[in-house]
Amino acid sequence: MISIAKPLIGDEEKQAVLEVLDSGILAQGPRVKAFEEAFATMCGVKHAIATTSGTTALHTSLLALGIGPGDEVITSPFTFIASANSILFVGARPVFVDIEANTFNINPDLIEAAITPHTKAIMPVHLFGLSCNMQPIMEISKKHNLQVIEDACQSHGATYHERKVGSFGTGTFSLYPTKNITSAEGGMITTSDDQIAESCRVIRQHGMRRRYYHDELGFNFRMTDVHAAIGLAQLKKLELFNDRRQENATYLSNHLQGVVTPCIPPGSEHVFHQYTIRVPDGRRDNLMIHLQEQGIGSGVYYPVPIHQQTYYMNDLGYRQSLPESEKATREVLSLPVHPALSKADLQSIVSVVNEFMS
Ligand SMILES: Cc1ncc(COP(=O)(O)O)c(C=O)c1O
Repeated sequence: MISIAKPLIGDEEKQAVLEVLDSGILAQGPRVKAFEEAFATMCGVKHAIATTSGTTALHTSLLALGIGPGDEVITSPFTFIASANSILFVGARPVFVDIEANTFNINPDLIEAAITPHTKAIMPVHLFGLSCNMQPIMEISKKHNLQVIEDACQSHGATYHERKVGSFGTGTFSLYPTKNITSAEGGMITTSDDQIAESCRVIRQHGMRRRYYHDELGFNFRMTDVHAAIGLAQLKKLELFNDRRQENATYLSNHLQGVVTPCIPPGSEHVFHQYTIRVPDGRRDNLMIHLQEQGIGSGVYYPVPIHQQTYYMNDLGYRQSLPESEKATREVLSLPVHPALSKADLQSIVSVVNEFMS
C-alpha cells in the first residue's frame, strides 16, 4: 500500500527522545527553548512559541491579539475546521471569503467587500503548502487596520517572494504527524512582535507572569520536552523533506494526464504538504476508489466547506454561497507526495491515474 502520508522518524529523533527521558526534565526544559529558537530562525522571525497543537497555536494567537466576542475574522471556508473553530473559541465570528480556483487559497479580491466595522483580523490559510497571495492581503490589512493571523499549519518553510510564511503577521504551525515535519502532536506560533510573543507565552501558561500569580485567564498549552526533542530533530530535516516533496510533485505534474495539476504562482515556493489535483467530470470519487483498489492511498481535503458543515449551518445559522469553495470540495483529490515515496511508487501512481482518466 502506498500511503497518503508517512512521518519519517529516524535514529536522530529516537536518540533525542531517549536523552530527554534520561535527563529527567520532561517538561519546561531546554529542548522546548532550543526548538523555539531554531523554528524562529527557520521562519526569519524574532520569536517562536511552542504549543500543544496547531489548534492551540491559533487559539492562543487570537487571544493574544485581543480578538473576542463581537469581533469578526475573515478567513477561508476551504480549510481544516480548526482554522474557523479557533475563531469561535474566542467568541468571535468567522466570516468566510471564497477561494481562488487555481490556488485553493483565499481570494484577496473578495476580502474588502467582507470587511465590516466589526472586522478585527484576516486569517489567510496557506493551504496544501502554498502561500496565500500575501501582498494584497497585507495591503488590505494596513489600509483597514486589521491584524493578520497566518494559518501556516500546512506550510512549514513555504515562501512568498523569498519571505517565509509565518513572518508576515502572527504565524501558526501544526506539528501533527502528517505535516511536513512533526513533533507527534504540537504547534508553534511565530512573531517578531515582542508584546505579542510575551502575551502568547503568558496565555500558554495559565495567565502566569510571576510564579503562581495569575493576572489573566490562560490555559495549559505547553509543549513537552519529549515533543520538542522530536520536533527539533525533524526541523533539521525540513529542507531535505521539502526538496523531496517538490521533486515528487514535479514528477507527478510532468507525467499526469487528464487531471488539473497544482498551480505554483510566480514568486511562490510550494512545499507540497498535499499534492492536490482536480478531477473533472464528476470522476473524482471513482478515481479515489480505483486508486484504493490498486493499493494507492489518496484523500479528499476537504469534502465539505466550513460554511456548509452541520454545526455552522444548524447551530450558527450560516447560509452563504461560495461557489469556488463548493466546486473544489467536489473536484479535489490529494495524491501521495511525501518524502518516503520511491520512484516506483511515483510511477505506479501516474500509471494508475492516467489509465483511469484515459
Ligand atoms: C489548515 C490547518 N489549520 C489548523 C490545523 C490544526 O492543527 P492541529 O491538528 O495540530 O491542531 C490543521 C491541522 O490539520 C490544518 O491543516
